[in-house]
Amino acid sequence: MIKLDNVSKKFGTGVFGLSEVSLSVDKGEFVFLVGSTGSGKTTIFRLLIRDTLPTEGSIFVNEWDVVNLPKNKLSTLRKNVGVVFQDLKLLLDRTIFENVMLPLEVAGASSEDAVKIVESALNLVGLTEHKDKFPIQLSGGELQRAAIARALVLSPEVLLADEPTGNLDSATSWEIVKLLSDINKKGTTVVMATHNLDVIKSLGKRVIRLEKGKIVDKEKGKKVSEKHQEDHKEDKTEEKEEKGELSEEKLSLTEEKTE
Ligand SMILES: Nc1ncnc2c1ncn2[C@@H]1O[C@H](COP(=O)(O)OP(=O)(O)OP(=O)(O)O)[C@@H](O)[C@H]1O
Ligand SMILES: [Mg+2]
Repeated sequence: MIKLDNVSKKFGTGVFGLSEVSLSVDKGEFVFLVGSTGSGKTTIFRLLIRDTLPTEGSIFVNEWDVVNLPKNKLSTLRKNVGVVFQDLKLLLDRTIFENVMLPLEVAGASSEDAVKIVESALNLVGLTEHKDKFPIQLSGGELQRAAIARALVLSPEVLLADEPTGNLDSATSWEIVKLLSDINKKGTTVVMATHNLDVIKSLGKRVIRLEKGKIVDKEKGKKVSEKHQEDHKEDKTEEKEEKGELSEEKLSLTEEKTE
């Protein structure tokens, strides 16, 4: 469903946003994209909607060859990939209802249909009572919900959420992740970029780890539960260490962890 093959992105400044990244996400999966600031998470999302082109490599979303996509297919790609941008991109002079309506307006949906779709999306994210407010009148968590609703109105097969819990307290973060998880359970493929380790651990989904534009997690095919078993193994080696039984096994684990 999503496939990056050996993708590099060198910006005009000479900085490599991504270096030789290969990854794939199956239809219906929920995957975390994890990495410190500047590791390339947003760059991957921008490449997936062809907001920018890679310097090298190929990118596929469904049947679309994103790099070689004809211009007339661009809107089809973007309809099928909903994005919750890191900076939300809500228009401050429009109500929440109008903001969520925007993609439908652009796509030319009839206003009667559009109203129904927007109401249903606002209901899904729990914002019905705030629909006539302006963005400045909402909390951070509510604004995230509004941006999620806007990303869903065209019924995308894929939802990309860029740091949707970035500035939120842990209870609100959890509510947002629960919402994304519910959306995923209805069949939408979800890729969520995050720093939030608590959220990642509690959901037990696949994690793709980036560092300085490269994939660093060799275990990207494993679920967190499997990783926990290995961490447990590491705990045991720590016990050995306390008993003065430090082995080569411990050294190699430490190397891998700091990679
Ligand atoms: N338009 C651009 N021009 C030049 N360099 C850029 C551009 N966009 C991103 N970069 C650089 O590419 C690297 C990856 O940036 P990116 O925004 O993808 O990181 P990120 O993982 O999303 O970080 P954050 O967690 O802070 O959002 C960084 O070094 C960044 O400075
Ligand atoms: Mg980012």
